[in-house]
Amino acid sequence: MLTCFARSMKSARYPPQTPGDPSDRSNALNYSIEPLPRHSHHIPDMSLAFHKEWAHLIPGKSVSDVEQSLRSRTNVDRLPVAFIAVEESGDWIGAVSLKEQDLEGREDLSPWLSSLFVREAFRKHGIGASLVAHACAFAQGLGISELYLYTDRQELFYRKLGWTLVERRTHHPREISILRLGLT
Ligand SMILES: CC(C)(COP(=O)(O)OP(=O)(O)OC[C@H]1O[C@@H](n2cnc3c(N)ncnc32)[C@H](O)[C@@H]1OP(=O)(O)O)[C@@H](O)C(=O)NCCC(=O)NCCS
Repeated sequence: MLTCFARSMKSARYPPQTPGDPSDRSNALNYSIEPLPRHSHHIPDMSLAFHKEWAHLIPGKSVSDVEQSLRSRTNVDRLPVAFIAVEESGDWIGAVSLKEQDLEGREDLSPWLSSLFVREAFRKHGIGASLVAHACAFAQGLGISELYLYTDRQELFYRKLGWTLVERRTHHPREISILRLGLT
């Protein structure tokens, strides 16, 4: 069953809506989700943020390794691919990737959703869910019927979006959860 849908409208409240003033739209954040190559000037800043967030899961990898990996996700019609959420000013607010492989030892599972990230100031406004939906819709358009991901901290977030647990295992040396989403 398809459990995620692309949203045509991309907007979020930023900062959060003031209680008692539900009609005020002046702080609405408008953003679009686009292929990364159109916004490749953000890759150095994204690499810094990603390395800071996930260094514990990729021991031995430097910021420039992360940057090189991001630069390889430049396709627009096949994997590996990355999408970036950009606000009207052109600044980036989040990103997500799709890759054939993402986890050593589980090469039997493919493809993978990875590198989902929303910048801290923009979290809890539906942007993460929207990025996941966008990646799912893209994968479905390629005829992909299922996606996998692993996470050490966000299992609940993904479960809310319909992902189900495949297994828990130890990885560098955290406990991670592998999750699956069916797209058909
Ligand atoms: C995880 C992350 C992408 C979520 O992005 P976000 O834009 O804040 O998420 P959303 O606003 O779309 O949240 C969607 C739903 O999940 C919930 N949610 C968000 N973060 C959650 C969390 N950590 N645990 C449980 N639920 C969470 C929201 O409350 C919302 O639920 P609702 O629709 O019932 O209100 C963001 O916190 C992030 O970038 N974290 C750091 C990087 C990371 O951990 N990425 C995932 C790697 S596997």
